Amino acid sequence: MGTTEVNGPPLTRREFLRVSGQAGLGAVTLTVAGGAFLPGPSGAQRRGSAAIREIHIETREVNWELAPGKRIKAMAYNGQIPGPELRLKEGERVRISLKNSLSEPTTIHWHGVDVPNSMDGVPGITQKPVQPGETFIYEFEARPAGTRWYHTHFQGHRQLDLGLYAPLIIEPGEPDPFPFDREYTLVMDDWATGTGTTVARTTEGTAGSRAGMGGMMGMMRGMMGGSMGRMMEGMMGRGGMGTMMGDGQRSAYDTMTINGKAYPATKSLKVRKGERVRLRLINASADHTHVIRLAGHRLQVTHTDGNPLVQPLEVDAVPIVPSERYDVLFAADRPGAWFLYCVEPGHAAAGEQVLVVYEGREDAKPEAPVEGMAGLDLWHYSLGRSRDILPAASGQERAYYLVLSGGMMGSDVWTINGKQYPRTDPLRLRKGDLARVRFENHSMEAHPMHLHGQSFKILEVNGQRLVAPIAKDSVDVEAHMGSVDIEFTAHNPGDWFFHCHKPMHMEGGMITLAKIT
Ligand code: C2O
Ligand code: CU
Repeated sequence: MGTTEVNGPPLTRREFLRVSGQAGLGAVTLTVAGGAFLPGPSGAQRRGSAAIREIHIETREVNWELAPGKRIKAMAYNGQIPGPELRLKEGERVRISLKNSLSEPTTIHWHGVDVPNSMDGVPGITQKPVQPGETFIYEFEARPAGTRWYHTHFQGHRQLDLGLYAPLIIEPGEPDPFPFDREYTLVMDDWATGTGTTVARTTEGTAGSRAGMGGMMGMMRGMMGGSMGRMMEGMMGRGGMGTMMGDGQRSAYDTMTINGKAYPATKSLKVRKGERVRLRLINASADHTHVIRLAGHRLQVTHTDGNPLVQPLEVDAVPIVPSERYDVLFAADRPGAWFLYCVEPGHAAAGEQVLVVYEGREDAKPEAPVEGMAGLDLWHYSLGRSRDILPAASGQERAYYLVLSGGMMGSDVWTINGKQYPRTDPLRLRKGDLARVRFENHSMEAHPMHLHGQSFKILEVNGQRLVAPIAKDSVDVEAHMGSVDIEFTAHNPGDWFFHCHKPMHMEGGMITLAKIT
């Protein structure tokens, strides 16, 4: 390896070489080192025999096979897409070296993890971009427990679209509230290969309206005798026109994957009759909401963005907007072979399906996936009730009103309160304050809004109060006057990105900062 600059927490040259010299390709290398003095992110030396887990990750360009005969130039962590799943224990201290072997800069963001601000991976805000050939050391304690993930945060997530994402599972210190016999992590993604049929974009949002909460579009149509709604649809073509304009090139997604593979290349999930099976579903897509269903079975939602509900909530299918995670359980009580797939039109055909095969029924014939949501009980935010896991506030209550707008007539400009990042007004908070944020979406596309550094509670969606709040770190604000109210305790000091998770909207300026001092 060549000479490498370390931007991260202070390591001596020797320590650095020890860390980076082990960088393995393929499988992630895990070593646990006990040391008398380990440098922490603050530069302070910690004492004692605290074990620290060391993990090595290398980014590089790869030629990735999505399906037989379908190869694409992509970017990968340790040569695989998704990158290696990291399994950490809640509270465990971890040191992750990122070696950048790409020909462009990169960083890693630990999505849903309450890391110290300097470890958050936002170039220009929390760290310098990691240049080609350089190594950066991330160090933090793994919390809170749950299904988290990590991904690049360079250039509005453009590299995320190319494969730089992976699961990060933090196992709870306490026994899991919902026992299971077997588990699988499934990461969904969309790809623009330029070879297949383009899949329609997700513009409206799925979290509320289709789940029976009453979309604003319908309400406006009613109010205006149909003319207003129709005019708006005509102008923006419910996504159709958007594809021809502005970001059209980048949004021509034609292939959909589960764990980096499009059906029939997806790897079947084995189960045994009588088991309770846990699925950790992660949507790494840039653009699409996926509505996941397992034929022949109901799904019990147990966690929202990694955070446990009071009790499992049974549905037929779970809509997952970009950057969201849901953990679900199902009872393996119908031996056979069944497709787990996305019911959104065109998605299963684009590759988003995987077989769940019962032991001993390997030659069973599965029913073909059925598109559409008609007659299905869908998960939506107002069904859940989270356990009380978020820290309590001790300071002042502060309210913010954020209007999401932009994309008019196909423009690439996306704004918060009429301003494009970096000109947006930050939320200024003191540690311990309670922040209440109301989002209103005045645009024609849904925005999955994500807060770094701490999770929030969803209180209200489209004017309807939730029976009990759910804890999340991403929330979909529906198109056409959709609204969401959230609240969070500003417990983690620093400058935290607060943004739409769709790369095109992020690049277009739909970002603000929560500045917590
Ligand atoms: Cu997963 Cu700033 O994002
Ligand atoms: Cu957006």
